[in-house]
Amino acid sequence: MDKKDAISTESNTAKKQKNTFSGNVGYILAVAGSAVGLGNIWRFPYLAAKYGGGIFLLVYLILMLTFGYAMIISETAIGRMTGKSPVGAFSAFGSKKWLKFGGWINAVVPMLILPYYSVIGGWVVRYVAEYLRGNAAEAAEDEFFGSFISNSFVAEICFVVFVFAAFLVIIAGVKNGIEAVSKVVMPMLVILAVITAVYSVTRPGALEGVKYFLVPNFRDFSIMTVVAAMGQMFYSLSLAMGILITYGSYLKKESDIEQNTTRVEWFDTGIAILAGLMIIPAVFAFTGGDIKTLKAGPSLMFITLPKVFDSMGLGNIIGNVFFLMVLFAALTSAISLFETCTATIAEELGFSRVVSSLIVLCVSLILGTASVLGYGIWSFVRIFGMQILDFFDFLTNSVMMPVSAFFVCILIIRVIGFDGVAKEVKLSSKFRRQPMYYIVTKYIAPFFLMIILASSIASALGFITI
Ligand code: PHE
Repeated sequence: MDKKDAISTESNTAKKQKNTFSGNVGYILAVAGSAVGLGNIWRFPYLAAKYGGGIFLLVYLILMLTFGYAMIISETAIGRMTGKSPVGAFSAFGSKKWLKFGGWINAVVPMLILPYYSVIGGWVVRYVAEYLRGNAAEAAEDEFFGSFISNSFVAEICFVVFVFAAFLVIIAGVKNGIEAVSKVVMPMLVILAVITAVYSVTRPGALEGVKYFLVPNFRDFSIMTVVAAMGQMFYSLSLAMGILITYGSYLKKESDIEQNTTRVEWFDTGIAILAGLMIIPAVFAFTGGDIKTLKAGPSLMFITLPKVFDSMGLGNIIGNVFFLMVLFAALTSAISLFETCTATIAEELGFSRVVSSLIVLCVSLILGTASVLGYGIWSFVRIFGMQILDFFDFLTNSVMMPVSAFFVCILIIRVIGFDGVAKEVKLSSKFRRQPMYYIVTKYIAPFFLMIILASSIASALGFITI
């Protein structure tokens, strides 16, 4: 039996023991639930505002359609081929050291993202609580956000509430319930986002913002536009962190990988663009396009949206529903991170699921608390000039993800081979974009990923200014 047959037999046995998704809908919901989250609603708009608006959007779209597409296909195919989560999937192809390393780096990234992701989730918890108490006007005040995050005690409580919520879902295994709720909440989120975006773009003065966000201006281009857009694309599509490998391992052979990929890609990007249209034009309408607000970074959504809701007159109701849905979207993403970390620890270190999830919980509490304090009583701490939370975000998205993506590409080029991937994808898809997949994975991706990595490091060390 050659290696590939061995793998597929092994994969069938693995599949018998694992649950496969009941059907396409279950799979798409799980992947979309992981993809759509704070990355779309909180992270995308502030990066777009900071890194040049329209030109950022253009670079993002190009990357998503080429690179993003190739990466989703690769990871899903690797997962389905081996029936394993990242460490096991890489080792299924041999015992060489680099395969082990490639698997582990894919597994470690989510463990570093989960803590700080939950801190931002905690910020959303706070806004939900404020709106429930009818404090829409207070939430819209300029100082509200700043004084909240610098109050480490309250921020810590909100963060802990969020992590525990994710933990409880993992322990209780209520994933099916989540799928059922997703079917209602996701469409509602889209409708509310459309209403808010229409409201935002029709405010007086907002048109400048629409232009800034949608029309590329090449003068705003810098290498950091590409670095940021690339990191964001990985982040938003939950790439290069083993999640799609793990989910691919649950996927049935009849499921059309290519079609699913296209749907998830566009759904995810659509939500990000909507969020941009909600937030960026509003910045222009409320502050006249003040550069300081545009570059506000992580706080942008929390400062701008409450103002929009407040001025709508129905601030309490819309704010309430909106932040509740963002919270839900954030939770489904956090759960996918939590799940991948738990699965890796259980599979590789042999602990039970409960113990594994407790380990993930402890690590998250420790690292997350550091991020909370970094905005509060530890605000003097700077790592390469960044606050602790920003540093984790930078380390994972701009430094580690290019490396793990690089290993996925090398695994395909050197070991699995393009024919191997094509065979797997073609079991159920036409694979129309195969030539593009080939060119991107073989010639563009590895080279490009290394450039991204080099410029990220150069910018952290101060050789390039962002
Ligand atoms: N993709 C999620 C989002 O956009 C975040 C996430 C990152 C989820 C990594 C899982 C893994 O919010």
